[in-house]
Amino acid sequence: MLTHKRIFSGIQPSGVPTLGNYLGAIRNWVAMQGKTDSIYCVVDLHAITVWQDPKQLARQTREMAAALMACGLDPAKVLIFVQSHVHAHTRLAWIFNCVARIGWLNRMTQFKDKAGKDREAASAGLYVYPTLMAADILAYHANLVPVGDDQRQHLELANDIAEKFNHDYGVAFFPTIEPLIQGVAARVMSLRDGTKKMSKSDPSDQSRINLTDDRDAIAFKIRRAKTDPEPLPEHVSGLEGRPEARNLVGILAAVTDSLPENVLREHGGKGFGAFKEVLAEALIAHLAPIQERLKRLLDDPAEIDRLLRQGAEKAAAIADPIVAEAERIVGFLPRG
Ligand code: TRP
Repeated sequence: MLTHKRIFSGIQPSGVPTLGNYLGAIRNWVAMQGKTDSIYCVVDLHAITVWQDPKQLARQTREMAAALMACGLDPAKVLIFVQSHVHAHTRLAWIFNCVARIGWLNRMTQFKDKAGKDREAASAGLYVYPTLMAADILAYHANLVPVGDDQRQHLELANDIAEKFNHDYGVAFFPTIEPLIQGVAARVMSLRDGTKKMSKSDPSDQSRINLTDDRDAIAFKIRRAKTDPEPLPEHVSGLEGRPEARNLVGILAAVTDSLPENVLREHGGKGFGAFKEVLAEALIAHLAPIQERLKRLLDDPAEIDRLLRQGAEKAAAIADPIVAEAERIVGFLPRG
């Protein structure tokens, strides 16, 4: 079967990403670009499995795509496009709906979490969310998928679908997918509670740094970030049981391309007041070029749309023949 590696990942159109999305995921994607053939897709079809205001969905889709580019993903080196623009995804998702078993979908913990108590009122789309996700990946014969740990079960399901398809039709057509699980080490936590992930959905804007936050907002949020009363420890072992300290040290290490050990060697013994000044400056400096590119792109939505159309064309050129072959294997008549 396949010997080459191809990365695929999907990202929800949640608007301008947070520092957490950037340091936890996007930055790793940038580091891998050029080494392996990579495809990044803003998943608007997945987004509407729960209600989305149409204007907001459009705006947030553009913002996320622009942010990926501003963070350094280069549309000349990797594919960046919007899921609904490439019809191969929904064509293959339908076939996968007929391969996946209801019993498999019933085990998905994300459905249970997102549907909540009133499961009967959840959309049918939310229920088949993972079959579309399998189609996203397998429409490109991609085999490496960088995701957070919460998506692991969906990737196992995608492998079950691929295997059942291959088995039922007696082919060796879909590859096995390997998850590239983002390390917990790179996880950025809330500035208000070091035990919770930094998140867009946190009601407090002070809990997160948004990539569009200006200099003053970043400095303010870091200054106000929750800490404990002790000075910084000299060694990483001293971060045990101090989630807020660990988080701030981790952020400084990440934006200065260093390691927590080295940050503590330099700043151990300092109080948080002084440390936060250093952190705010480093963060502002690291984000400045990204923010400048982001602003330029967001001021020119037509250019974002042009780049996305180009991305979709290239994506379709890969996915269409693969999905056409899947349709042929299933027994659909060729369409001209
Ligand atoms: N479900 C993923 C998330 O919420 C997004 C996603 C959609 C995805 N399709 C994908 C991730 C394909 C990886 C591969 O984060």
